Amino acid sequence: MNNLGNKRRLALLGLVAVFLVFFACTKKQSETSTQATESNEILFGEFGSMTGSESTFGVSTHKGIVMAIDEINAAGGVKGKKIRIISYDDEGKSDGAVTTATKLITQDRVMLLLGEVASSRSIAAGAVAQQYKIPMVSPSSTNPKVTEIGNYIFRVCFIDPFQGAVMARFAMNNLKLATAAILQDIKSDYSIGLADFFEAEYQKLGGKIVAKESYSGGDVDFRSQLTLIKGKKPSLLFVPGYYTEVGLIARQAKDSKLDSTLLGGDGWDSEKLTEIGGQAILGGYFSNHYSHEDQNPVVQNFVKNYKAKFSEVPNGLAAMGYDAAMVAIDAAKRASELSSKGLRDALATTKNFQGVTGIISINEKRDAVKPAVVLKVVGNNEFHYVATVNP
Ligand code: PHE
Repeated sequence: MNNLGNKRRLALLGLVAVFLVFFACTKKQSETSTQATESNEILFGEFGSMTGSESTFGVSTHKGIVMAIDEINAAGGVKGKKIRIISYDDEGKSDGAVTTATKLITQDRVMLLLGEVASSRSIAAGAVAQQYKIPMVSPSSTNPKVTEIGNYIFRVCFIDPFQGAVMARFAMNNLKLATAAILQDIKSDYSIGLADFFEAEYQKLGGKIVAKESYSGGDVDFRSQLTLIKGKKPSLLFVPGYYTEVGLIARQAKDSKLDSTLLGGDGWDSEKLTEIGGQAILGGYFSNHYSHEDQNPVVQNFVKNYKAKFSEVPNGLAAMGYDAAMVAIDAAKRASELSSKGLRDALATTKNFQGVTGIISINEKRDAVKPAVVLKVVGNNEFHYVATVNP
């Protein structure tokens, strides 16, 4: 009995000791991190799809963000402080976006969030950022609902009512294709929204929608929808989805001898698009935020530096990541105080900021109003500039 009691007491003591050490460590860690934040660094958080079927979105955006922060730190930082970024992979999932954003806010105590690319994930994580009053800047989420969440949520890109109209006008006025089918991802706020905005403008211009079919992100077989669509003989097929499904859809459309011209939005922008779509995606057109062929010296300088750093040509996501980070840094420079509230207020007054993707002014809805470009898929990861469309 006594022996057992002793053992228990010992075990208990051991447990207490473990807890004490644990708490001491945790406390120390958080103390150092607060101190560091107060003394010599400004902490940003980034969450994105670094893995999964949209991995190129997260990876490209991350490179753009890192490049911006490295440039600013090399030039002395902001108000004598260096910018530090903590980045997490949300695996391309909405719950992953919520978990990583929450961790960045409550554990890492970042001052500002950069993310996400996909609208559905920005909508999910934006609610958390708004709740904790941490400013969030989405580089490239285009669905209107993202910034409607509240006054802490911003974006540096155009929105889908514009992007949809751009492609509808391009189809009717430039390509003269007056019958369309739409194949949308019903699991994606981006896809559903862009499909609707395209449809509205296309019909307004006299175009006819002959079919509207759906799939769910992650699907790999689109043959039944494509067979239905083929029966309606549309001159174009609008696919407002992300590159993995778009590539597969292009292949299966070709296999089913559907020869409609393929059109889409910024979700096509990936080096994997042509890898997955092969020959079948060549000749397709999509709207985007930037073209690396733009001869504007701001763009060419960015392309040159990015190539030197990463040995590849930056896509639109990299450019948007770079601009999002630069706009956040510009806000930190102008902020009356280095706090989340200070950064929020400064972000809201961003005017005529010269970005790589155009001149960025944040409007009263916390969106940026900017031109779009139309690109044509002409070869392996080769997207040629076709047109610029102004708002
Ligand atoms: N605009 C897309 C969305 O809102 C994301 C995206 C942006 C994808 C740019 C590719 C390039 O979901």
